[in-house]
Amino acid sequence: MCGIIGFTGDQPAKDIIIGGLERLEYRGYDSAGIALLDEKGITVRKRTGKVEELRKLCMNDTLDACCGIGHTRWATHGGVTDANAHPHRCGQVVLIHNGIIENYRQLVTEYGLADKLVSETDSEVVAALLDTFYEGDPEAAIKKTVKALSGAFALCIMFEDIPGTIYAIRNVSPMVATHSESGSVIASDVTALIEYSNDYFVVPEYHILKLTRDGILVTNLKGKEVKPEILTVNWDIKSAQKGGYPFFMLKEIYEQPDAIRNTVMPRVEGDLPDFTEDGIDDAIFENCDKLMVVACGTAMHAGIVGKHLIEKLLRIPVNVEIASEFRYKDPIIDEKTLTIVLSQSGETIDTLEALKLAKSKGSKTLSIVNVKGSTIARESDYVLYTHAGPEIAVASTKAYTVQVAAMYLITCRMGLVKKLISESDARKFMAKLISAPNIIEETLKDANDIKRIANHIKMATDTFYIGRGLDYTMSLEAALKLKEISYVHAEAYAAGELKHGTIALIAENVPVIALATQEDVYAKVISNIREVKARGAYVVLVSMDEKIDDPAICDKHIRIPKLDPEFTAFATAVILQLIAYYTSEAKGLDVDKPRNLAKSVTVE
Ligand code: AGP
Repeated sequence: MCGIIGFTGDQPAKDIIIGGLERLEYRGYDSAGIALLDEKGITVRKRTGKVEELRKLCMNDTLDACCGIGHTRWATHGGVTDANAHPHRCGQVVLIHNGIIENYRQLVTEYGLADKLVSETDSEVVAALLDTFYEGDPEAAIKKTVKALSGAFALCIMFEDIPGTIYAIRNVSPMVATHSESGSVIASDVTALIEYSNDYFVVPEYHILKLTRDGILVTNLKGKEVKPEILTVNWDIKSAQKGGYPFFMLKEIYEQPDAIRNTVMPRVEGDLPDFTEDGIDDAIFENCDKLMVVACGTAMHAGIVGKHLIEKLLRIPVNVEIASEFRYKDPIIDEKTLTIVLSQSGETIDTLEALKLAKSKGSKTLSIVNVKGSTIARESDYVLYTHAGPEIAVASTKAYTVQVAAMYLITCRMGLVKKLISESDARKFMAKLISAPNIIEETLKDANDIKRIANHIKMATDTFYIGRGLDYTMSLEAALKLKEISYVHAEAYAAGELKHGTIALIAENVPVIALATQEDVYAKVISNIREVKARGAYVVLVSMDEKIDDPAICDKHIRIPKLDPEFTAFATAVILQLIAYYTSEAKGLDVDKPRNLAKSVTVE
């Protein structure tokens, strides 16, 4: 939800931290701030707006302190104001926080902190509490403070009388750190570390970090030093830069063919799916008689595609649950249920807590995650990492298609293990999956044609995506994409259901994007299209038709290559992503950083 970074070394920290905040800005961008510490004391600069506003604010500062912390905020407690921006300073303490402190009001009353506070935030209460407990021993003050907190936190802290030093501690909210010849760096995720080192470690929960220019000391709450496992980032800094594209989202749409190749090919052995290198035990497939898929947002939509495929090809029941609902519904799962969890960031707290609940009920858990060493990956029994590289745009695209590809891999592996599909059928299936990147490359050639549709949609107040079967599952993701980056309201509807009420909303020029790639229900969808066309809708038809003979059917036809019905998802996904992207761009919006959103939702 927020981006946090700390640096201490031999060079001025100001530009290092602001540069790091720019790389973390996709995590939240309501306000930004920096605190610098040297022998002269603490200096804080912060304001609402994006990091560029902070850069302007600090432009004329001759601040040359070599130790500091920085924060980009996604507001949770308290409005978007300068006072509520981080860092928060109280007495000798200054800190930045990612997470939510659920008992902050009780703490204000219990410790009489009200007079110390100037903001509406829970984070400032932590600073005030730390300052109250601080009597010269930072570790003691941190332990006492953390003991009093209830909720999620990742904290970077500086004490005015300890120059050159940053302390940090986390429980649920993510933090990673590294030390190199430049100094010590800590951040919310590796995109802000990568320019210093490819090696990093995940900050262990409830451990205190002491960062100085010479190194990072990690101690548990008993004061015992621990050496966290060192991980290596398998992508370079260019992956986290735009590379000439106007927005990260467009770059990431075009990265999908390689992202799918990098995810699928390492799991192909003898033309069959193979999870040996991933350490995924076939027993989890052999021993399950049903599946539970749990995720949020786009990741959940990828799970729904997986449901469609597994139920159609393997006849195994699959339940897909919204993680935030799953957690509180006392779900019907047991040791015969395999729970599949999907998450690009691996830090979505709703998904993480749902995972823990599934495990507590005896279900084996397999997570599909894009960030190595993330919390969800570490909590799961098994992990199938996707290799999409960093996804910077808040709106998920390549992470979605690699999650879908991972579900195809799991479907095929499970079918083989349970002897529900023959090896020869599995080989044919895998051959089609291996060619999915080519389908996407073929579809991307129509990008300009798709761009023209945006002009119709950008003026709309309501847009509908309709389809049946796999096309309906794709419509769910399409509607979310359009809403979250263009602010045009969109709704996905099972094509056959529209006439049971919602068709009342179809009027002159209301855009309806109709997916008709599933041959077994093609005629039915065409009938549904005629129903909306007859009421004045502006219809975009996405199908495999060579050409459309009856002009009465649609206003625009986007043709996808001739494909097996199970594999049209890789073509329609790209089309729907581009429709959303071009609509947002046509409206002059910040496609990568839509209002109110953040890349990783680490609060409930
Ligand atoms: C997708 O475009 C959204 N940014 C959002 O729905 C996202 O998919 C969801 O928050 C889940 O995130 P995760 O995959 O990192 O768990």
